[in-house]
Amino acid sequence: MPTFTIISCALGVLYNDAVPVLVDSDPVTWCIDVGQIEAKITDRTRAIMPVHIYGHPVDMDPVRDLAEKYDLRVIEDAAEAHGAEYLTHRGREDERWVRAGSLGDLSTFSFNANKLITTGEGGMVLTNDPAVADHLRTLRNLSYRTDRRFWHTELGYNFRMTNLQAAVGLGQVERIEQIVERKRWMGAAYTERLKGIPGLKLPIERPWARYVYWMYAVELEQAAGLDASQFAQNLQEREVQTRPFFIGMHAQPVLRDRGLFEGEEYPVADKISRQGLYLPSGMALSESQLDQVCEAVREVLT
Ligand SMILES: Cc1ncc(COP(=O)(O)O)c(C=O)c1O
Repeated sequence: MPTFTIISCALGVLYNDAVPVLVDSDPVTWCIDVGQIEAKITDRTRAIMPVHIYGHPVDMDPVRDLAEKYDLRVIEDAAEAHGAEYLTHRGREDERWVRAGSLGDLSTFSFNANKLITTGEGGMVLTNDPAVADHLRTLRNLSYRTDRRFWHTELGYNFRMTNLQAAVGLGQVERIEQIVERKRWMGAAYTERLKGIPGLKLPIERPWARYVYWMYAVELEQAAGLDASQFAQNLQEREVQTRPFFIGMHAQPVLRDRGLFEGEEYPVADKISRQGLYLPSGMALSESQLDQVCEAVREVLT
């Protein structure tokens, strides 16, 4: 799994008595550096967990190839990437755009309040494997068995979603195209207005990716002369709120206290954590607010 992600990814591993093994980030997309995954695979590896960071898809074909080569499962975390697309099988006859969430053996989505589709809290797991789907339904519901009521042979959870929440989510699924269009408009509008500001690295959309800009994230180059926390403070003084980037799993006290990641180094993740932040990116952001944000960014950096 990438070190640069939310702690939820590592918790999922640890709650299942498995050991998270980390990979550094791609300096362009901020997603897992797929070129560094193979070196981390051992005979104890069971799965690869790519995470589509901030709504930009991971380059999934090489991940799937590795999974096939080493007989691993792919757990695709699409929590931040509802509606994002990936050009699979590039240069082959069956090249095609596919949605994030269709590329893992299991794919997960979050419907937390800040996501593209939200049910307040909650989420979804997708799989094409009927046996896995059955198992997930059982785990979600306290591992009740169908053959004998109140008889349990596995530790389960109450991960049930209420019907009310599901209805709220389904209403949004009907307008997913509009939601994605709005987010892609926001991404293009920010890039158009912010390009050329010295020291400011804007998000890049790879030709094989359709970014949904869950968050419009930027990174300050060392040449900018300030780090993200100083930048955030300067923007806050101009009434623009921002949020910091993730902090790598390798730096998390709760994980290090368990003896994990001793002596390991993830320089790209460390750098982007220090130099990155995201700008206001909500669905309700108006064009004039976006203009105001860009003006503040320009004022601070030029
Ligand atoms: C990449 C990623 N994975 C997992 C999660 C966890 O989702 P939830 O908050 O719905 O448990 C989030 C965000 O909250 C996320 O951004």
